[in-house]
Amino acid sequence: MTQHFWVAGTDTDVGKTVVTGCFLRYFQKKGRKAVPYKPVQTGVTPGHSNASSSDTSYYQYVSAAPLVEDHLNTYSFKEPASPHYAAMLEGAEVSKEKILSHIELLKNNYDYVICEGAGGLYVPLTENEFFLDLIEQSKLPVVLVTRTALGTINHTLLSLEALKQRNIPAAGIVFNRYQGTALENSNIETIRRYANLPVLIISELKNISEPEIPGVAGEQFFERLMLL
Ligand SMILES: Nc1ncnc2c1ncn2[C@@H]1O[C@H](COP(=O)(O)OP(=O)(O)OP(=O)(O)O)[C@@H](O)[C@H]1O
Ligand SMILES: [Mg+2]
Repeated sequence: MTQHFWVAGTDTDVGKTVVTGCFLRYFQKKGRKAVPYKPVQTGVTPGHSNASSSDTSYYQYVSAAPLVEDHLNTYSFKEPASPHYAAMLEGAEVSKEKILSHIELLKNNYDYVICEGAGGLYVPLTENEFFLDLIEQSKLPVVLVTRTALGTINHTLLSLEALKQRNIPAAGIVFNRYQGTALENSNIETIRRYANLPVLIISELKNISEPEIPGVAGEQFFERLMLL
């Protein structure tokens, strides 16, 4: 039974944080203890904390109850770049082991731990490790967030292939920012044909400060996810 997982993406800016916010609120509504965790965030200006200043600020902003700040993040860097480069500019290095032990701590304290990746799967974490290496060693499954627009078939199938090669279970696909066009419908259908996975579709939201999962679809998605 899976209750802890990664929200990884096909790319940066696909909506991992917004989807993490949706999941957090979904579990909280069910009265469960859930925590979002962003191991490495970049592009963070110290002292600034509004909903859009960092992923962890957004978590706090959308959470139904205050979250324990120390549980949400391990590394924050100023440069909006990949973790290894942003860390290098500050003379730091990311430790995979430190992140893995934080995940263990969270697993012992929460019903649901939602770990958010950085960028896509092959984003460098350190000089010689990728984010995918961290995901693999965490032994947690992945919910893949992807776009609905042109280009998504290639990005989504490549990402699923990368997970498969490492034997990392793909728990489901979230198509984010759906606008209801014929092209998007065709993209989603094509991906479903190749990947027999639970799918959740999240529309383009008017108000991202109250991210919600569509009711019945959400229930079905998580029922299948938890069966893994
Ligand atoms: N469903 C949605 N509806 C409307 N706007 C969205 C939606 N999902 C994401 N966005 C917007 O797209 C932008 C990128 O989203 P988000 O920060 O969640 O991406 P990300 O994948 O977490 O990026 P990163 O790799 O930096 O962590 C944000 O401005 C967010 O508000
Ligand atoms: Mg994010």
